[in-house]
Amino acid sequence: MSSGTVEPVSVDILGRLEALARFSADGPGVTRFVYDAAWCDAHRWLAKQAEALGLAATSDWAGNLFFHDPALEPGPNAPPVLLVGSHLDSVKHGGNYDGAYGTVTGLLMAAGNRGRAGLPVVGFVTCEEEDSRFHGGMMGGRSILGRVEDHDLDAVKDRDGVSWREALAFARERGCAAPLPSPLPRAPLFRPALQLELHIEQGPVLEAERLGLAIVERIAGYRRWIVRIEGAARHSGTTPMAMRHDALAAAAEMIAAAETVALEAGEPAVATAGFVRPSPGLFNVVPGACELWLEVRHDRPELLRALGEALTRRCEEIARRRGVRVALEEGAAQAPTPLSTGLAETAAGLAQELRIAYRRMPSGAAHDTMIFAQAGVPALMAFVPSRAGVSHSPDEFTAEADLIAGVRFMGALVRRLAERPPA
Ligand code: HGY
Ligand code: MN
Ligand code: MN
Repeated sequence: MSSGTVEPVSVDILGRLEALARFSADGPGVTRFVYDAAWCDAHRWLAKQAEALGLAATSDWAGNLFFHDPALEPGPNAPPVLLVGSHLDSVKHGGNYDGAYGTVTGLLMAAGNRGRAGLPVVGFVTCEEEDSRFHGGMMGGRSILGRVEDHDLDAVKDRDGVSWREALAFARERGCAAPLPSPLPRAPLFRPALQLELHIEQGPVLEAERLGLAIVERIAGYRRWIVRIEGAARHSGTTPMAMRHDALAAAAEMIAAAETVALEAGEPAVATAGFVRPSPGLFNVVPGACELWLEVRHDRPELLRALGEALTRRCEEIARRRGVRVALEEGAAQAPTPLSTGLAETAAGLAQELRIAYRRMPSGAAHDTMIFAQAGVPALMAFVPSRAGVSHSPDEFTAEADLIAGVRFMGALVRRLAERPPA
């Protein structure tokens, strides 16, 4: 390796993942919501890690972080770069690897390629991807690419009513976001010529097929609804069954309908009811109101549309039959997103040259890479195995040898693309 560079695989991936996992709110697994105290601590830790590797760590206004050669000035005059990274936030009670693995990889790739000829390699960390604190719809990817409107900062609020703008002020006070420009910029700090993300599979396929690597061809999209059902709150002891308008019982039928529409559509259709809140929530009151969150996913646009239509139609039928009112508020959606076929070919050719057994596969999980691909940036993801396919759980696990092999492959791919960027 030339001076000023770091051999990516000689550094401690597992140690860094374990260190990152300690930045978490209380409770099982990792809970690191965007801009919360643990997120800010992790952000500062990553910046220090970058500096220790001879990199500059630059934050944008949203708290997205870039690891880059200090000689490379961010801004409109910076040359196009190869961006590689992932997200810093987690779901509630998530695992050590989702997002963190790609984030550490981005750091190592930027360090390993510092000062080298070719396309500059910049590590990125998006502030938010999981939609767990806010329902802003990929706030990190959108803000990195200049796709956030000023009014989003006030409209997007967490469960406690804290707006994106207010949460950002908390992060800024802790040095984890740059000053807020007005109007918001339309261009990224570093213009991506290409974008890559290394991630755990979060599903069981690679392990079942005893493969260490997948090249991701497309990412499933989703549609989400906040369903508000209004029935009639009545005494649970005195209201005959035939005379009830039970909002929670209606929600239960809608949950079952979600399962049915996905099963009827067949794989890879999935549908999930992730949250339900009846009101008033007592033993002795027939629930008069209920909030329910529904999501459907598919990797084909027309089938995703059909799945959504089937589900909303059934919810409306259930409400009519039960004499309750229903309002379906559609939230953030993502379109099914194809990734770069050219980059997938390059990655597949490289895997063959390196004699790595791999497969191509779609991703059922959403990723930051969708936002880059949707913006027209040639973008690609690779996966390493997840034990038993477990993810979004404290039990998430990937063997160290698989983690290292993934980083090694990504290192080779980054080198190939930086030296010979596609035309
Ligand atoms: O929701 C998702 O698929 C992703 O893990 N954020
Ligand atoms: Mn996730
Ligand atoms: Mn992820």
